[in-house]
Amino acid sequence: MKVDSSLSGKSLLRALAGERLATPPIWFMRQAGRYLPEYRELRRQAPNFMDFCYAPALATEAVMQPLRRFPLDAAILFSDILVVPHALGRDVRFIEGEGPRLDPLIGQASWALGDPAKAVERLAPVYEAVERIKAGLPEGVALIGFAGSPWTVATYMLQGRGGDKDDCRAAAWAQPAQVDALLAVLVETTARHLQAQAKAGAEVLQIFESWAEGLAEPQFEQLVLRPTAALIVRLRALGVTQPVIGFPRGAGHHLARYAAETGVDALGVDTSVPVARVRPALPARMPLQGNLDPQLLVVGGDALRAGVASVLADFGDAPHIFNLGHGITPEASPEHVTAMIAAVRGAAT
Ligand code: CP3
Repeated sequence: MKVDSSLSGKSLLRALAGERLATPPIWFMRQAGRYLPEYRELRRQAPNFMDFCYAPALATEAVMQPLRRFPLDAAILFSDILVVPHALGRDVRFIEGEGPRLDPLIGQASWALGDPAKAVERLAPVYEAVERIKAGLPEGVALIGFAGSPWTVATYMLQGRGGDKDDCRAAAWAQPAQVDALLAVLVETTARHLQAQAKAGAEVLQIFESWAEGLAEPQFEQLVLRPTAALIVRLRALGVTQPVIGFPRGAGHHLARYAAETGVDALGVDTSVPVARVRPALPARMPLQGNLDPQLLVVGGDALRAGVASVLADFGDAPHIFNLGHGITPEASPEHVTAMIAAVRGAAT
């Protein structure tokens, strides 16, 4: 990691360099999205979600919408983790109210995929969006690029949809070598995808390991630890110096191993993590990001203010990036987001 905080006033970069700021930098997962009426309006311009992701002007506008409403410290690229399998030649569709659908690899004789270098060429519109966003960002706002982790993306490819991962775990127990080969292609493609985002202007990279939950330790090692470590080694070999935030949602008792063994620079923690109690097991001074329950942005009021206070107390004096413990939901209210940010800033120590 190379973050020289003296070169940048951006609070997210300072926190990632290990500074504990009086007010933590604030951004939140899915900050551009369906809880905003202006996003729902914009989204109508490209009814197919993948087309929306590949339209740099629309993606850029989606990123700017929450920044106009809220004083946030970071923006995240508008895209999706499933552009990677799409670029590798898999069919990816989004069904309204149900989520993503892919043709499942489980049950197919061959899991052959396209070439990682060619895949990244197909993602040129994503990098064009990064350039446009970077050019239009308000001062002090850092730009985060992202990708899904190899395992999380593989789960959608294997079973063709979200939901429980029973079939994916069974496939990994039954055909470990075949799953390893799939993960290796995803490691290479994801490293190149993140490198291209960094080149286009992303200052921080986040890896979404949304499906770290429910894994026995040997599978956590095979499916999460080893591919993530390989991804970060590859990124650094490609010359990428940006700090990497890993977000292993649901890692539970494996969280400390994830923090120590993958090479991530900062750790995103989900809502279920009792940060004060877990922190002694984590690398000293590792910047931590999280972890307000997104449901509090549906509820608002005193419960929201108490939730913010509890998160701030829980993170104590660690370098902290304020965030939710998972993405904001479509039912959340923008007014509650304003109240959340005011509560974080009002509580400055
Ligand atoms: O955070 C942001 O503001 C950046 C944009 C972003 C999206 N998806 C946009 C999106 C990011 C970072 C993602 C990551 C993503 N995508 C993850 C990891 C994070 C997580 O939530 O665990 C996952 C698992 C996906 C796959 C995916 N994409 C699913 C399961 C869905 C359906 C969700 C649903 O509730 O329908 C999507 C669609 C998606 N990605 C939407 C947005 C704004 C909604 C689609 C729409 O506008 O119609």
